[in-house]
Amino acid sequence: MPAVGMGTALPIPVPHEVTKDAVLAAIELGFRHLDTAAMYGTEGPVGEAVADAVRRGLLRSREEVFVTSKLWCTTCHPELVLPSLRETLLKLQMEYVDLYLIHWPVCMKPGPITWPAKREDAVPFDFEGVWLAMEECHRLGLAKAIGVSNFTTRHLERVMSVATITPAVNQVELNPVWQQRTLRAYCAEKGIHVAAYSPLGGQNWNGSGEANAVLESEVLSEIAQARGKTVAQGYGIFIENDWANASLLGNLALVFCCITLFLHILLLFKMHQISLRWIHEQGVTWIVKSYNKGRLKQNIDIFGWELTEEDRLKISQIPQRKFVTAIALFSPEGEFTSVDLSEMDIV
Ligand code: A2P
Repeated sequence: MPAVGMGTALPIPVPHEVTKDAVLAAIELGFRHLDTAAMYGTEGPVGEAVADAVRRGLLRSREEVFVTSKLWCTTCHPELVLPSLRETLLKLQMEYVDLYLIHWPVCMKPGPITWPAKREDAVPFDFEGVWLAMEECHRLGLAKAIGVSNFTTRHLERVMSVATITPAVNQVELNPVWQQRTLRAYCAEKGIHVAAYSPLGGQNWNGSGEANAVLESEVLSEIAQARGKTVAQGYGIFIENDWANASLLGNLALVFCCITLFLHILLLFKMHQISLRWIHEQGVTWIVKSYNKGRLKQNIDIFGWELTEEDRLKISQIPQRKFVTAIALFSPEGEFTSVDLSEMDIV
C-alpha cells in the first residue's frame, strides 16, 4: 500500500470531469494510491482517470495504482456486500480493488445512498455476517485486501472475534490534532495497518464552519517557520562568502542561490507538510484531499527531510480534539430510536 494517497471525498458534489482531471493530475504528479467510496460518487471518474492514464502511458497498467473503495452503511448487510462490491467494480471498470473497507461501523436500512441519513434508518450492525461476506469478496479475488474504516478498538474487537482474516487496514480520522494513540497501539499489536483521512483536519465536516484546527495550529505554524529559518540559515552561509571579488560565474551562482532561497521559503515547510510528515513518521498512510494541482504537488513533497525530536515532542503536546463523529452521518430531524447512540459514535 503506497504510503501516501489522494482522497476524493469532497463536501459538495463536483462534476464527473473535475474529479477525473484531478485524479489524472495526481497520477501525473506521482500519486499511486487513490481513495474512493460508493458514498462519494467518485468511483466512475477514478476508474476513467486510471484507464486514461494507462492509455496516455502515465501508467504501464492498472496494477500500478492502489485503489481503495468502501461499502456504504445501507449495504452493510451480509447479502448486500458482494453485490455492492460488484457494482463498485462496474463503476471503476476494474476487475478488483486493492482494498475494500467497511465505511462505518454503522448499518442503515437497505436503500439508496442518502446524505445525511435519517437516524430512524439506523439498524443494528451484524458484524459477524458482514465481515464474513467481506472475507468472501477477498476469496473471490475481487478485493486484494479487506479492512474497515472509522472503527474504534471496541468495534475491531467485535470483528476480530469472528474473523478468519484480520482486517488489513483501519482508515480513521488522524492528524496532529486527533492523534489516535490508543487506537494506533491496539492496531500495531493486532497487525492492522492504520490509514489517516483528514490528515489536514478535513473540510468543515460537522457543518459548523469552524476553523480547521490543523491548518490553524500555532504549534505546527511555529515548527514550519523554524524549518524555513533553518533552510534560510543554510543559504546564509553561502551568501556570506566574498562574492564582491567573485567571478561572473560566482555572481550568477549568488543570484541563483537567492532565487532558490526565495522559492524554498515560499514553497517549503508549510504547516500542512509538517502535519503530513508527522503522520508519515508515525508509520501511518495518509490520504489527503485536494483537486488543486499545486497543492497536490506540495502535499506529496514530504520526503527527504525529517522532523526533529523537539518538533515531535511539541506535536505530542497539542490538545486533542475529534471532528468527525458518526453523528455527522445523520440529519438532525431524524429520531435516533433503533440503536444505542453510544454504539454509533466514535469516541
Ligand atoms: P482544497 O480542496 O481547496 O485544495 P483533508 O485531506 O484533511 O480532509 O483536508 C482537505 C482540505 O485541506 C481541503 O479543504 C483542501 O483544500 C485543503 N488542502 C489540501 N492540501 C492543501 C495544501 N497543500 N495547502 C492548503 N490547503 C490544503
